[in-house]
Amino acid sequence: MAGQIPQRFIDDLLARVDVVEVVGERVTLKKAGRNHSGLCPFHQEKSPSFTVSADKQFYHCFGCGAHGNALRFLMEYDKLRFPEAVEQLAARLGMEVPREGADDPRAQAHERKRKEGVNLLELAGSYYRERLKMPEGEGARRYLAARGLSPEVQQAFAIGYAPAGWEALKGHLAERGISEAVQIEYGLLVHREESGRTYDRFRDRVMFPIRDIRGRTIAFGGRVLGDAKPKYLNSPETPVFHKGRELYGLFEARQANSRLERLVIVEGYMDVVALAQFGIRNAVATLGTSTSEEHLGRLFRMVGEVVFCFDGDQAGRQAAARALQAVLPQMIDGRQARFMFLPEGEDPDSLVRREGSGAFADRITCASPLSEFLFDHAAEGRDLATIESRERFASQVLSAIGKLPEGVLKSLLLTELSRRTGVAQSRFEALVAPGDVPEAEPARAARSERDTVPRTRPSRGGGSSGGALSLMGRVLQLLVHEPRLVSRLPEGGDWYPMQDPEAQLCHEVERLLRAGRYRSAQVLLAHFHGTPEGERLTELARRELLIPSEARAAELDGLVEHFRRYRLKPSHQEEVDALLSKQQRGERLSQEERQHLMELLTELKG
Ligand code: GTP
Ligand code: MN
Repeated sequence: MAGQIPQRFIDDLLARVDVVEVVGERVTLKKAGRNHSGLCPFHQEKSPSFTVSADKQFYHCFGCGAHGNALRFLMEYDKLRFPEAVEQLAARLGMEVPREGADDPRAQAHERKRKEGVNLLELAGSYYRERLKMPEGEGARRYLAARGLSPEVQQAFAIGYAPAGWEALKGHLAERGISEAVQIEYGLLVHREESGRTYDRFRDRVMFPIRDIRGRTIAFGGRVLGDAKPKYLNSPETPVFHKGRELYGLFEARQANSRLERLVIVEGYMDVVALAQFGIRNAVATLGTSTSEEHLGRLFRMVGEVVFCFDGDQAGRQAAARALQAVLPQMIDGRQARFMFLPEGEDPDSLVRREGSGAFADRITCASPLSEFLFDHAAEGRDLATIESRERFASQVLSAIGKLPEGVLKSLLLTELSRRTGVAQSRFEALVAPGDVPEAEPARAARSERDTVPRTRPSRGGGSSGGALSLMGRVLQLLVHEPRLVSRLPEGGDWYPMQDPEAQLCHEVERLLRAGRYRSAQVLLAHFHGTPEGERLTELARRELLIPSEARAAELDGLVEHFRRYRLKPSHQEEVDALLSKQQRGERLSQEERQHLMELLTELKG
């Protein structure tokens, strides 16, 4: 296990980080004189008694006495243990946390080994890049060009080419005095036990270096230029590379944007690189494994939101279900996880090329929040009309909720589950109460959390928060989330309260959806892109519906009904007159009109 973190590193870290920035990402702060102030995140209050001092680099709450520096804040707010808080701050600054071990020869040897390995891999990486530029790299260059990768993107990802011979790299490294044993240990050479022969692991492949967060090469992935098998070859496990822990593209994402807020998790190397080619520079890929808790822990230390991207087929749904299980324990307040499914037969690479970056970005925006995927997944294949299937639905949801840390999401999901099943929330709460409170977290904290109203935190992405929706806002939201519902709206649009600007927007959205070219929310958002309406729709797309798909049509019907009634009052008599005279002229009323007339008449009498 790692040794102690040296105190001088912690001092150095605290000297570089700004507590106002760290707190400001989680609490809305206003500048007040020399300090900043805001509502205390550690107790419920209506007027701000929480201050953060940039000079002194600490926060203090005059209400509840909470007090400390940036590290303390992260520990309290994000519920991290001390070393995790240090890791998180260090990651922001691109620093690596050193571990004490001056007096431990084993730790020293380990560190030496690490350096040796990394140097060797760097050497191999630059060799591959060189080869790509040489005449022998011609085929690989053509391949990369055919896949649409510009020289800039190839360079950003340090892509190279491993030549076709059996001993090309081996010879190159041997000239530099690097023993075969070390080359084998770091996965560059394959050693055949039977023959004692050694040869280059990567031959005639496009090479993707896998880099750690500081940009040091720790492994490679290599792709064949044609259809040979295996399509991809990864470095084996080595002293510096553990496949289940590393992600491809993390360093490059950080390079492109030091203030990352969201990461998109895709499947393949090419997906990451193709998205980058289209300006979407925050994708990372697991290395042929499913996303582990360890991956997610690492990602959430860097960003507040992850979006999982899956194929639209059955395998994709299964992978999503596994990802859900891995992400649940990580969902402390302020973190977000969302799920997006691609059309069948597409991967991000093929889709972004076909649709362009705007449409792909809209897909990311429209990805389902965790809550929605959780309920949909539990309801899948079940007819919730029977008690037995509702019971199984509830147990599946409950077992997921039981994996969540205490917090807002857990409360919201319990409320929603109780709403959907008609079982009192207290019954469910008893079932998921934290029986064994994790160490380091006093039982008191867990209890008080449940007794108080959960605190909320402004979302980092912006837009997904906001007050209660107006009824027309809700109609719009339903349409944005599920455009096919447009068929439930009464034709003619006479039910809209047109003095309401939101109704005007809704009417426009209805028109576009009916015109048929805007069957998905993505395309719809693209239509309004860059306008205030577009912003409004994007915001609505980000907000969770929090009701199951099967209840949405009914809710929309109810809302329309409400507007119809409301709309009736000022002009009901005129409408009735118009309809009646139409009928008297011998024209047939449509079924829609007949029903409307009936309602008007009932309303008039009532
Ligand atoms: P392209 O065909 O280049 O577009 O790659 P892809 O990313 O679309 O490939 P695919 O969907 O088949 O695979 C996704 C990821 O799974 C790859 O990026 C690899 O990490 C991994 N993978 C695919 N094929 C192999 C293989 O044959 N061996 C190993 N070890 N991993 C593979
Ligand atoms: Mn592909």
